[in-house]
Amino acid sequence: MIGHQAEKLEELVALNTKEQKKQSKKTRFIAITSGKGGVGKSTISSNLAYSLSQQGLNVGIFDADIGLANLDVMFNVKIKKNILHVLKGEATVSDILIPITRNLILIPGESGDEILKYSDMVFFERFMREAKVLDKLDVMIIDTGAGIGEHIQMFLNAADDVVVVTVPDPAAITDAYATIKTIATLRNDVSMIINQAKNEKEAVGIFDKIKKVAEDNIGGNLNLEFLGKVNKDVKVSSSVKQRALFAAKYPLSVSARDIDLLMQKVACKLERNVLVNSNESGLSGLYKRLIKHF
Ligand SMILES: Nc1ncnc2c1ncn2[C@@H]1O[C@H](COP(=O)(O)OP(=O)(O)OP(=O)(O)O)[C@@H](O)[C@H]1O
Ligand SMILES: [Mg+2]
Repeated sequence: MIGHQAEKLEELVALNTKEQKKQSKKTRFIAITSGKGGVGKSTISSNLAYSLSQQGLNVGIFDADIGLANLDVMFNVKIKKNILHVLKGEATVSDILIPITRNLILIPGESGDEILKYSDMVFFERFMREAKVLDKLDVMIIDTGAGIGEHIQMFLNAADDVVVVTVPDPAAITDAYATIKTIATLRNDVSMIINQAKNEKEAVGIFDKIKKVAEDNIGGNLNLEFLGKVNKDVKVSSSVKQRALFAAKYPLSVSARDIDLLMQKVACKLERNVLVNSNESGLSGLYKRLIKHF
């Protein structure tokens, strides 16, 4: 059944590809994940997305973990409908998009595999057409939610970059390592952000330990990269409570500078102004990649 659906989808995508002569930007998809919950994925995703958008980049942030108070809380917005409503034909893509700043758009997703149940419906075609609204995105950050469920694995497969977030506590490190081990069966490049660190030295120390264990046990193919750290900072937790972005509220704080450094690293990876077929950009690009891994 799933194989059949995937075939149909591929036909639809191929059809759209032919139709779309228009060229779009290549969107870079960055999935943010973790082993343990509550380590700061949504905090980092939202502030990093904001910081990238402040550079003039067109940024989308996709909440793939909707339902568990997340990005809607971070951005202090109310979500009524999500991508599932679009696939069901109950809303248009434009209806569900929530503009945060001029260059930043929140795309409410749906947790679970339910999205894919609708993937062979006739609405999909309309969805692909409408999703072109997002073709101009330079980067889409996907906040995946914790753990390594089946649908999260699909995102991890589809993304250009996978970032595992952990905090220094031993339980979180163990879970982060287990997650990296699973991701290593899907792909061989993973990066890490150490959140709630005391300082750079502690963060690098934790990363080096994880990297050593990974090299000894997972093997040489895995390319584990240190993307950066975010300091433990009361300005971060108080901002979350106030539903504000610390990178905007306290731009000179150490933690906001940490976000800046992460932003610079991510921005370096973007292939700016690369023109591609619009099926490789925005939401349709993501969808196309997701169904490839059925
Ligand atoms: N650098 C930091 N300094 C201080 N507190 C932090 C920091 N990062 C995150 N927090 C705190 O941790 C809490 C959890 O963060 P967040 O909601 O981003 O985690 P999450 O990984 O998205 O959680 P979930 O797995 O439930 O989606 C925040 O409410 C915030 O108070
Ligand atoms: Mg979250």
